[in-house]
Amino acid sequence: MSEKGFNPHDPEFIQDPYSFYRRFHNEEPIVRSEHYGGFWLLTRYQDVRRALQDWETYSSATPGVTSIPMATQRDFPEYPIESDPPEHTKYRELVNPWFSKVRIVKFEPDIRRIANELIDRFINLGRADLIKDFAAPLVTRVLMLVVGLPESEAEKVNDWANVIMHGRLHDIQSAKRASSELIAYVDEIIASRRRAPQDDIFSLLTQATIDGRPLTDLEIRGYGVFLLMAGHETTIKGIGNSLWYLAAHPDDKERLINEPALITTAVEEFLRYMPPVHMLGRNAARDVEICGKQIKKGDLVAIGYGAANMDESVFEQAHTCRIDRRPNPHLSFGAGPHTCLGTHLARLEMCVAIEEVLRRIPNYQLDPSSPPERTPHGDLIGFWKLPVVFDNR
Ligand code: HEM
Repeated sequence: MSEKGFNPHDPEFIQDPYSFYRRFHNEEPIVRSEHYGGFWLLTRYQDVRRALQDWETYSSATPGVTSIPMATQRDFPEYPIESDPPEHTKYRELVNPWFSKVRIVKFEPDIRRIANELIDRFINLGRADLIKDFAAPLVTRVLMLVVGLPESEAEKVNDWANVIMHGRLHDIQSAKRASSELIAYVDEIIASRRRAPQDDIFSLLTQATIDGRPLTDLEIRGYGVFLLMAGHETTIKGIGNSLWYLAAHPDDKERLINEPALITTAVEEFLRYMPPVHMLGRNAARDVEICGKQIKKGDLVAIGYGAANMDESVFEQAHTCRIDRRPNPHLSFGAGPHTCLGTHLARLEMCVAIEEVLRRIPNYQLDPSSPPERTPHGDLIGFWKLPVVFDNR
């Protein structure tokens, strides 16, 4: 570790967050880092859970606070994430019905159709990259469908999201350019829906009111940009991590093929053990002392979802992935007012994606000639390349 302390984007952490978490839990449950302007990391389950529910101490209401470092400088808040109750409740209520379980389950046939269309494209080749050829196009096309945008525009949204997420650390100019293009795309949709409403989430927002006033274009932009980003990389990683695990653990793969009813339980464990989101930031809204550490008003505090999931005081054999683990109160979707809006969608997509891969290419294995590659950041952990081979005869 450098003299600045823990760096979540250090390749060593990205490769093996587990040994860091073990050490933090044993030695330093509240971690101080001087990277990225300095921040704290909460690692114990109870501290993380409490912080997620205590928005009066841990505030989200600052543009860019959730990403460490900030994705790109922004002067508008993203909604609903960058607001605190009671405002947050009003922003959140507007979009809750759009992502309700009742609405989302209706997309299952579409998710299965898209998954199979993608598998059809590579099934005769005997090899595929399960991120580029499967998880990424699946997630982006489904997201477009769910928010009501043309599936044909999925590829450009996927490209922008990738460049913004990866560029924020390694190519800030490209990240800024992609961010401006995504904003322009969202602004154009808002303008067109103001002229002629359609059956999509942007039209809903142009007609919605908060405290009796219509939403401004900037507020709708805040929703649009965040929804397209939040539903993208997270779910790609959720699917990719699960498919990687099953390839690397053939006994569990075999078990899931033989016991398909285990899928929902297995998905919860994949989410716990390999959470797409390991940490997001908040601002301390007042001085607080935890475990002898003085967190000052204004300090940046990272909420360690990934670390909390490894807390042995809550999860027996926390460092082992047990695909039949029950109960499984993991914090991979958060807890409290900001609990992920897309949980029903993410869970459904993960189940369907895994089911269809296991059904169509059950003997897939990691490609021995091309190892998987992880994305170069540790706040969200997963793969951007997952080459596999399979014999389909
Ligand atoms: C496996 C996939 C996903 C994971 C692991 C994930 C994880 C998370 C986490 C950790 C949070 C913060 C919760 C908190 O701090 O309490 C969050 C918030 C959020 N997620 Fe997800 N997410 C996923 C998929 C999605 C999808 C598909 C969407 C839909 C577009 C989505 C939309 C959101 C939104 C809008 C918020 C902010 C909610 C609020 O502030 O009220 N997420 N997600």
